[in-house]
Amino acid sequence: MSRTHDRGAVEDFGRWREFSAGMWAWLLHKFTGWILVGYLFTHIAVLSTAIGVDPGQAAAGTDLYTETLQGLEELLIVRFLEVGLLAAAVFHILNGIRLLFVDIGVGLGVQDESFYAAVLLSAVITLASIPTFLGGQL
Ligand code: HEM
Repeated sequence: MSRTHDRGAVEDFGRWREFSAGMWAWLLHKFTGWILVGYLFTHIAVLSTAIGVDPGQAAAGTDLYTETLQGLEELLIVRFLEVGLLAAAVFHILNGIRLLFVDIGVGLGVQDESFYAAVLLSAVITLASIPTFLGGQL
């Protein structure tokens, strides 16, 4: 005999209010993972400006790569994006290590607590990075 379950509508975005810690962990891990993939392409694009750089220009700091980096670092929005990237990377790494422990059966009974610890530690590390990324900018 088959039974039906009312899982609600997938498109009902109001359901985030009922999310458990595990659901937030799953969402944040996916979100940060894909942010990192997106950044990888940006990173490769910036690094590609170093291809074929003239050593003389590089020594004088007038090559395309140096100018690209300097131009980006001058933009305040880039500094803020760097803080966001660090937050995403730190959370993904800490939560990823937590998930790997869970996969081998370590910390199964404290999954909510370890998720909150990962969020808290990520926030502390991100806040501590602000003077470095935004130093002299604000
Ligand atoms: C020390 C570094 C990292 C650790 C420990 C880590 C850990 C993990 C783990 C355990 C998962 C699977 C989560 C699950 O069970 O659903 C995962 C998923 C993923 N990671 Fe990482 N990761 C790291 C770095 C990265 C980096 C550098 C990138 C991107 C360039 C990345 C992108 C992703 C993506 C896209 C997923 C799949 C997300 C999804 O479910 O759609 N990770 N990571």
